[in-house]
Amino acid sequence: MKNKNKPIWLSLHSEYSINMIPVKENYSLKQHNTLGIEVKARYFASPRNIQEIRVLLDNNRKFFPFMIIGEGSNILFTKDFNGLVLHPAIMGVKIISNNSESCVVEVGTGENWDDFVKWAVENNLGGIENLSLIPGSTGSSPIQNIGAYGTEVKEVIERVNFLDLETLKPASLSNSECSFGYRTSIFKTRLKNRVIITSVIFKLHHNPVFNTTYGNLQAEVEKTGGPDLKTIRNAVISIRKSKLPDPKIFGNAGSFFKNPVIDVVKANKLKEQYDSIPVYPVSEERVKIPAGWLIEQCGWKGKKWGNAGVHDKQALVLVNYGSASGEEILDLAMKISDSVFSMFGIRLEPEVNII
Ligand code: FAD
Ligand code: EPU
Repeated sequence: MKNKNKPIWLSLHSEYSINMIPVKENYSLKQHNTLGIEVKARYFASPRNIQEIRVLLDNNRKFFPFMIIGEGSNILFTKDFNGLVLHPAIMGVKIISNNSESCVVEVGTGENWDDFVKWAVENNLGGIENLSLIPGSTGSSPIQNIGAYGTEVKEVIERVNFLDLETLKPASLSNSECSFGYRTSIFKTRLKNRVIITSVIFKLHHNPVFNTTYGNLQAEVEKTGGPDLKTIRNAVISIRKSKLPDPKIFGNAGSFFKNPVIDVVKANKLKEQYDSIPVYPVSEERVKIPAGWLIEQCGWKGKKWGNAGVHDKQALVLVNYGSASGEEILDLAMKISDSVFSMFGIRLEPEVNII
């Protein structure tokens, strides 16, 4: 009998190499998902390079399913995972080129996103300061094209490097091949579970154009005499802390749903009925409605539902008050979605990846 959560050392042989990689068995994922759901992985490994990923998959993918996890800040587990969870720990920040205008830098998938933002700001490199304090690993940033405070990561991504999980060969896509959109990319659609992102190449700027137009960002920046990279980063952090719960205190995955993008004709009809509905133009025909507003109108803001609930400062954030199961969170999400649909005729789409 193997001990629960005790690392076991499997000798893994493959055509690529013979190696020893620590693989944990029956491993709790509670510390690996920011919703804090208690589920177990049958096997869990943190490969440190492409070779180790190959070794692990080449041997094991025929026998059981596998999934990839970064920092688990956009995942809702509803049950144990009876397979191999791969948590890539490929690290490193490498400057590829640097001139008077820009700096091109390659970042390993396992680097924490906000550590990278901090590094960029400290080195006077602009482009990602508005994306301060977003949880997760750098390798996950292209997957849903992370965005906040008027910026999306697609604006600075040059190329995404990955391992094709069918051939176990490295490949890469340029920015224009990634099909980036609002909270989506080719990695969340066609290539979902078919690649492991190994590193991302960013182009950052020595003389960035600051973007402080979102909400009260400009006012917050002015409090400390900005704008510059540091004041923008600090202002974003301060606004985020005032609205979003710290996952270390209350488990959450940020926005549970995407903001729905709807037809302008439908939005105008809703406006006749609900004159305070916020509407943001996306194109001539489409507008974005804040899901937080829709959820709040349905009376969910601050409500508790068993061990789960809706954050009292941001209705788009579902919270685990301690011991909620994944099913409880999902149950609450479905109730919210149903009530938004019956009141507004808009179907909310989850942003979070449900496993
Ligand atoms: P995970 O949750 O571990 O994984 C997400 C998905 O990507 C899964 O399907 C997983 O299988 C896959 N995946 C992970 N790593 C890899 C890889 N190397 N290769 C291939 N597939 C992989 N998001 C925003 O866009 N804007 C925000 O402002 C924002 N605020 C947040 C605030 C809070 C408090 C929290 C908890 C979350 C927030 N998020 C936000 C969501 C989240 O931070 C991002 O989606 C983040 O990029 C997820 O990174 P992760 O490493 O935790 O990914
Ligand atoms: N609103 C309400 N009630 C609420 C929450 C929001 O009425 O409880 C309305 C208000 O009108 C407010 C508007 O929604 O002005 C926008 O709210 P906020 O600025 O908080 O942003 P959001 O649309 O709710 C989005 C992203 C966040 C990102 C922020 C800041 C999505 C799904 N969410 O939230 O991203 O940090 O903007 O840019 O697009 C995430 O993806 O996990 C995430 C946290």
